Amino acid sequence: MARMSVDMMTVLHKCAEIELKSMELYDLYADCFTHDLDVARMWRRAAREEEDHANQFRLALKMRDGVIREVNLDPCRVEYILKELQFAIDRVKLSCPTLEEAFHSAIKLEEDLSGMHVQYVVDFEDEMCRKFFNALMMDDKIHVSRLREAYDRQTKTRDR
Ligand SMILES: [Fe+2]
Ligand SMILES: [Fe+2]
Repeated sequence: MARMSVDMMTVLHKCAEIELKSMELYDLYADCFTHDLDVARMWRRAAREEEDHANQFRLALKMRDGVIREVNLDPCRVEYILKELQFAIDRVKLSCPTLEEAFHSAIKLEEDLSGMHVQYVVDFEDEMCRKFFNALMMDDKIHVSRLREAYDRQTKTRDR
């Protein structure tokens, strides 16, 4: 995919938007599974962590205000993730997914996001920015492994 010059503030704004949409999706999932306390709690926790990520981006935006740097990124990737997220949110609003469907789309989302954050870690020259995206990427990885574990646990207990 083509890469183009984008300023850092735009990237940070878009990233905050992605975190907020992830929060919205996970809160909707939690609402769909209120009959299963453990599952609902897991989505709620994920939603609050995404909210925390969004707040971190807001903080980063405040701190970097005025320090506009150009970075070479693939803007299509961000737009693609945002579109996928909105699509998933709209779908859940129409009807609740099965637990399996919810796990699958959340795992795919977290993997896409961690891939995107890796790209930022590599591309940003700014040391603070690199560390920041590195920490977020680690969180995405933790989310993926936690979702996979929860998925395995749920399918095992359900098959019994
Ligand atoms: Fe996040
Ligand atoms: Fe996440």
